[in-house]
Amino acid sequence: MSERLEDIASAMVTPGQGILAADESSGTIKKRFDTIGLESTEENRRDYREMMFRAEAAMKDCISGVILYDETIRQKAADGTPLVDVIKASGAVPGIKVDGGAKPLAGFDGETITEGLDGLRDRLAEYHGLGARFAKWRGVISISNDLPSWGAVKQNAQALARYAALCQEAGIVPIVEPEVLMDGKPGDHSIDRCYEVTEWVLKTVFAELYDARVSLEGMVLKPNMVIDGKNARKASREEVAEKTVRCLKSTVPAAVPGIAFLSGGQSDEEATAHLSLMNAGFDMPWALTFSYGRALQAAALKTWAGKKENVAAAQKAFAHRAKMNSLAATGQWKQDLEAA
Ligand code: 13P
Repeated sequence: MSERLEDIASAMVTPGQGILAADESSGTIKKRFDTIGLESTEENRRDYREMMFRAEAAMKDCISGVILYDETIRQKAADGTPLVDVIKASGAVPGIKVDGGAKPLAGFDGETITEGLDGLRDRLAEYHGLGARFAKWRGVISISNDLPSWGAVKQNAQALARYAALCQEAGIVPIVEPEVLMDGKPGDHSIDRCYEVTEWVLKTVFAELYDARVSLEGMVLKPNMVIDGKNARKASREEVAEKTVRCLKSTVPAAVPGIAFLSGGQSDEEATAHLSLMNAGFDMPWALTFSYGRALQAAALKTWAGKKENVAAAQKAFAHRAKMNSLAATGQWKQDLEAA
């Protein structure tokens, strides 16, 4: 594959394909495993991820890239093949989460700053050697009547921009992820408040990317959808699609090759339906696809339940979700396909 940033970014948003976010940190994967009563050991984490990466047809047809965690990029499949090679064999691009997580921002009660810039240049060089061709950094923006503050928006945008510039220097495409939380506290904000905050955050992020001399052609944006809070849900699917596209059009330059949404706590089907409505209903200058974690994995995780004998069924559940989202990425998903 070409090593040009523009070509890697285009491959990540290939029509009808999207990104599998399998980069849960040790703490997050433990929470996921708790839901199926499984201990989070290195072997269980490996088996779980290998199950998805070896779902051949789904990986080949629907998945353009996989975001890995530091442990996973170094792991080998049960037969000794590096997991990175399993991913590459399917045609997907291996990627790596490089942020160190969102930590309390000093002086800003209830807000966070994402850590991990110190030493990042060296870590990126190592990850490039391990096969990663894109990376992810997630800035987390709290939302309420009073939040976010300008200080938190600005500092998270600056960190994203510094990260993105370092990635491009290392020949790695940055996924720039400023997430305005849908499932944070109190989570009772309206869709219009989400619009206002998302627009502000994206404008700030692109201003910082410009100042940091980041090439927009060599990045992928991973935003939240414009949606009401988890404890306020009332907007229709059509309203979410329309407001999300309007907000992105007013903030994201056309030079960006693609936008890959996070699912953020939406149900599997909602995340798919929203994406499909956007692609079916609007002309847009960028590719619009998915970079889902929970919305791609929830069904497979439940079906797998940590048991070898469930691997084939879990792969089927994963393949179904991947196929539904692949259709959504070209606006062709229909409700009745869910039953199939
Ligand atoms: P969700 O789709 O579960 O929100 O996860 C995507 C992700 O990578 C968050 O950083």
